[in-house]
Amino acid sequence: MSDKRTIDVAATPMLDRAKEIGFLTTFDRAKAQEPRCTFGNTGICCRICLQGPCRILPKKPGGNKGICGAMDYTIVARNIVRYIAGGSAAHSDHGRHIAETVLHVAEGKLKDYQITDAVKLIAVAKKIGVETEGRDVLAVAKDVATAALDEFGRVNEDEITWLTANSNESTLDVLRKTNIMPSGINLSLAQLLHQTHAGNDADPVNIIFGGLKAALCDYDGMALATDLSDILFGTGVPVVTEANLGAIKADKVNIALHGHNPLLSQMVVKAAKEMQGEAKTAGAAGINLVGICCTGNEVLTREGVAIATNFATQELAILTGAMDAMVVDVQCIMPSLRSLAECYHTKIITTMPIMKIPGSYHLAFDEHRALDSAKEIIRLAIDAYKVRDTEKVCIPDVRNTVVAGFTLESLLNIFKKINADAPIRVLTDAIEAGEIKGVALFAGCNNLKGTHDENHFTIATELAKNDVFIVATGCAAQAFGKEGLLNGDGVQKYAGEGLKKFIARLNAAAGLTAELPLIFHMGSCVDNSRAQDLANMMAKEMGLDNRDVPYVASAPEAMSEKAVAIGSWNVALGNPVHVGVVAPTVGSTLVNDVVTKVAEDVFGGFFFWETDPVKAATRLVDILEERNWKNAMRK
Ligand code: SF4
Ligand code: FE2
Repeated sequence: MSDKRTIDVAATPMLDRAKEIGFLTTFDRAKAQEPRCTFGNTGICCRICLQGPCRILPKKPGGNKGICGAMDYTIVARNIVRYIAGGSAAHSDHGRHIAETVLHVAEGKLKDYQITDAVKLIAVAKKIGVETEGRDVLAVAKDVATAALDEFGRVNEDEITWLTANSNESTLDVLRKTNIMPSGINLSLAQLLHQTHAGNDADPVNIIFGGLKAALCDYDGMALATDLSDILFGTGVPVVTEANLGAIKADKVNIALHGHNPLLSQMVVKAAKEMQGEAKTAGAAGINLVGICCTGNEVLTREGVAIATNFATQELAILTGAMDAMVVDVQCIMPSLRSLAECYHTKIITTMPIMKIPGSYHLAFDEHRALDSAKEIIRLAIDAYKVRDTEKVCIPDVRNTVVAGFTLESLLNIFKKINADAPIRVLTDAIEAGEIKGVALFAGCNNLKGTHDENHFTIATELAKNDVFIVATGCAAQAFGKEGLLNGDGVQKYAGEGLKKFIARLNAAAGLTAELPLIFHMGSCVDNSRAQDLANMMAKEMGLDNRDVPYVASAPEAMSEKAVAIGSWNVALGNPVHVGVVAPTVGSTLVNDVVTKVAEDVFGGFFFWETDPVKAATRLVDILEERNWKNAMRK
């Protein structure tokens, strides 16, 4: 815990190793960027047209506006919502890819995929109004996939399907009244880019509302991605595995699955089971798969694949000298991986047409021959293993047990063992009895403006001490895995008395071979939709509007445009959202006040920026207590 760069004890020796070999990691590059440009940092640098960049110099006559006359509030608002457009495009395009695959399965065009979870398919079909009675599974799947694809191109006044099907009526009312209910995903994103074009909308509030509409498309894309991935590959159930660089094995062919999309990685898992013999023939003890970022979370949740590490430390997996191949798909993949791989035998294999890295190996993934593609990848890894330099192998002996796979369904299955009629009551009763204070969702990335993983660890353990039930996704969940918070020991070490009692009751009912964890890993970033389903369910059961539910979200180390989109739809759906880095909204008091204060009056949700983890935790607990107190007063 003494290293200022990271609190991850496996990362520290690897960073020292990088120094030894003279490789500058993302940690060095982050340092090299200091000091940051204040204009960019606070959001008052506009680069939207070729006259720019224009920077706001408040005291300089003529410099207090852009060349076109754009005020600080217009520039800040435009910049921030363009992040949302990027994030929302990424998540929803991922969802579209999955939907297209389900459609092709239903049409009998893909031999390597099938409908794995027909129960979920029927549940989703009923939810979105697709007829199921007496119909063939593939016919239902075709209609569900078509409905998902319709979300993208719709240009009429109809409301978007997944958002409306999942949300509570009072939330939908607010979205309709504020005119931010989307129709089609592509339409909302195109409109937002149009709205924020040079010489277009100058009204910051109108721009922010356009941004929220796009953020709701992010939610929609995520929700359909989660549903269709479950239908295709199965809905995760509790699994036991391990996390941190110690999950990489010196005697095996190691393959890291990195990125976000499970379409190929699921096939690699399948192929690896069949190809252990080939690895053994090459002299290895077998094939060992590990995950990085959300592709890792997808195969962890459904297949129990171990977590190697999270976003900021992805390079360090190569520095172990034992990573034979890193297969990457989309999002959060550092271009630097390839130059580091040159110092080793590691093959970086890009697989998607929109994500290539110059000089790396590109294997164009084709769903029509998905399993064969996966086998080719494994053979490349085995070939690389054969030339691995054992002198360079240095794997930190650090790993923690992970109990994960807590999709909403698997969580409710545990609750059902205590209350079969109203499973969610198990959670809401504990809140109403004061045993636990509420629910916190941890989501998001790593951001090297702070110490790697520190905000995640400190805020979560503080909340646990204060009896908050915690769920997590994405790189936040992976940080918790590496720090030993995704297992029963974490409960003993960090939970307050109320949370301990609550989890003990769940343990007694669950009847699992492993103890339940301190923090419940719900999956990848797109699975933030699962957490929102939980919040919606709590609201319904407690007879509350979402804006009153004791539920908060935190992105302690938010980094990507996707994180901005996720945070923004959380706010629109009524959730208070903590962000552990200062957002580039502070360059305009007006915009900053709208997203941190005014938003609460309108939506119930709001943002707050707090870089100090203890202060952030205190505020999150205060918010939960205030919501509980108000709810008690209303009775
Ligand atoms: Fe400058 Fe206006 Fe162009 Fe932005 S849009 S770069 S403020 S002239
Ligand atoms: Fe992610």
